[in-house]
Amino acid sequence: MSILVTGGTGYIGSHTCVQLLSAGFDIVLLDNFSNSKPEVIDRIKEIAGRDFTFYQADLLNKKEIVSIFEKNKIDAVIHFAGLKAVGESVSIPINYYHNNITGTLNLCSVMEQFGVYNLVFSSSATVYGTQDQVPLHEDLPLSATNPYGRTKLMIENILNDLYVSNTNWSIALLRYFNPVGAHSSGRLGEDPNGIPNNLVPYITQVAIGKLPELKVYGNNYPTKDGTGVRDYIHVEDLSEGHIKALEKVTITSGINAYNLGTGIGYSVLDMINTFSKASGREIPYKITNRRPGDIGESFADPSKAEKELNWKAKKDLYEMCIDSWRWQVNNPNGYESKVTVV
Ligand code: NAD
Ligand code: UFG
Repeated sequence: MSILVTGGTGYIGSHTCVQLLSAGFDIVLLDNFSNSKPEVIDRIKEIAGRDFTFYQADLLNKKEIVSIFEKNKIDAVIHFAGLKAVGESVSIPINYYHNNITGTLNLCSVMEQFGVYNLVFSSSATVYGTQDQVPLHEDLPLSATNPYGRTKLMIENILNDLYVSNTNWSIALLRYFNPVGAHSSGRLGEDPNGIPNNLVPYITQVAIGKLPELKVYGNNYPTKDGTGVRDYIHVEDLSEGHIKALEKVTITSGINAYNLGTGIGYSVLDMINTFSKASGREIPYKITNRRPGDIGESFADPSKAEKELNWKAKKDLYEMCIDSWRWQVNNPNGYESKVTVV
């Protein structure tokens, strides 16, 4: 079976490609490198020990997508490609709406044109907006608090409408919680541009001495230690969720949302302490004001994915920290590093 992976050289896409190849799928990757590097292609091949076809292509260019479908027999699509930085989406909303929504519309219309109806989509726990209760389960009312989140919510709605229009569609909406960690080989990981926004990439750069200290955004949330609580999930567990979702969409039709999280919430201080143990480094930090738009606590009820996809996250917080640290040490400048694997 041949799978088109959009955004395949990105953080989650690259890990998923390794697992797809290892599971015996043929893959065709497309990416425009707006947030990833060509080096990733060779690393995926090196880890998986298999070859695949890559296209540098943009989902905003429909002709390029058509050409990929003309040249390759595609059975299903895993759609990762999108812009994902919450803060940036507030500054440049048009880019976010255009890239994420128009890109998805182009992809889906070409899929229809070629009679390909199996789709796994990267949604986000951000579609739960602000809720009074945790854990978050799939049937809660959805909302969004920023343009990025609204693109995910709009795309979920568009995909629901597609299924209503044609019940051949078979779609999994995967709502990721907080993906962290890296491939256990130390060869694939998250490579943010500039100063990271997210907690774990920031901590790894503090630990290695590239950044002086972590700012902890608030210690007055109604959580166990006052700092923000999130459901961190190892990127390899998350990737495995895509294989399970793919198996499901290719044998059924319908549209279903699934939470991909561990079901366990950890605070910022838990993460600092665990990362310190895993790396053997002190993580200097100071408590600052809350970050605008942040919520206090978010963690998944992952039981639907366990029941319907037969998927469950296995890796704990310590493994997430060990693997993030290995990636940072082996690739101090991300994919541009001259690498010495240790
Ligand atoms: P990423 O930025 O590492 O990967 C996305 C890839 O898509 C990049 O390689 C980028 O170059 C590519 N891309 C973007 N727009 C494109 C376009 N128009 N045409 C072709 N390629 C394009 O991000 P990631 O962390 O791997 O996230 C993958 C998906 O998961 C995204 O849709 C993101 O919104 C979603 N998601 C991520 C997180 C997270 O915390 N990482 C959480 C929830 C959801
Ligand atoms: N945090 C800090 N200091 C930092 C960075 C983060 O204290 O320098 C705290 C945040 O306040 C939050 C926790 O660490 O309590 C996690 O923050 P992240 O930025 O790593 O993750 P978020 O939960 O804020 O956001 C992530 C993704 C979004 C997605 C959202 C909901 O980055 O794309 O989860 O799924 F929308």
